[in-house]
Amino acid sequence: MIIRTASFIKSSLSPGDYPSPAKPEFAFIGRSNVGKSSLINMLTGVPGLAKTSGQPGKTRTINHFSIDDKWYIADLPGYGYAKVPVRMRVEWTALVRKYILERPNLVSLFVLIDSRHKPQASDLEFMEFLGVSQVPFARVFTKSDKLNETALQRNIAAYDDAMLGMWESLPETFITSATKRRGRNDILSYIEDSINKFSPAG
Ligand code: GTP
Ligand code: MG
Repeated sequence: MIIRTASFIKSSLSPGDYPSPAKPEFAFIGRSNVGKSSLINMLTGVPGLAKTSGQPGKTRTINHFSIDDKWYIADLPGYGYAKVPVRMRVEWTALVRKYILERPNLVSLFVLIDSRHKPQASDLEFMEFLGVSQVPFARVFTKSDKLNETALQRNIAAYDDAMLGMWESLPETFITSATKRRGRNDILSYIEDSINKFSPAG
């Protein structure tokens, strides 16, 4: 799939603000600082489209982008160690959960996982919540440029082991690097296939 235009639509703090659910939508989620916004910029080929930061907790609203006037990307606030007041964290969690469970045009979620780390409880718990809620998702192991291939495969295998304890099969899995543009074609092909299966008109 070739992306010709990608533009920011709006930031939302409540479901009433979201763009109308007329087009298929793909959302990016994961712990703060995992590289959600960087991945969106890499996939769309528009640097600076989604705001990135070295400081965790940069994305605090649900940000929608329009791709080729055909589908939407949603950049979600990160979960995990954002240095923000508990009250705000509780608000984001409620907003994100509601989004995931109720957004009618959400085709698939990309759950981003930092490929440098051993399995993290927050990531495993979040994917468990998706499984129990029957929300389709794919795993994306980010920042693969920061470690060698052996360590990368070892960390992914550790996630597989942790998940196979409770899952019968593993979700679709991608390996990315925003700096090396790794994983771009794989994810765009997956999105294209998913859009073709999603037909609002029936
Ligand atoms: P929040 O919005 O705060 O939750 O963060 P985010 O998940 O959107 O992360 P963001 O894209 O802002 O990236 C966080 C930091 O990681 C930035 O300093 C990025 O430059 C860096 N980063 C993201 N992806 C990659 C990658 O693939 N490789 C490398 N080397 N750095 C990356
Ligand atoms: Mg972000």
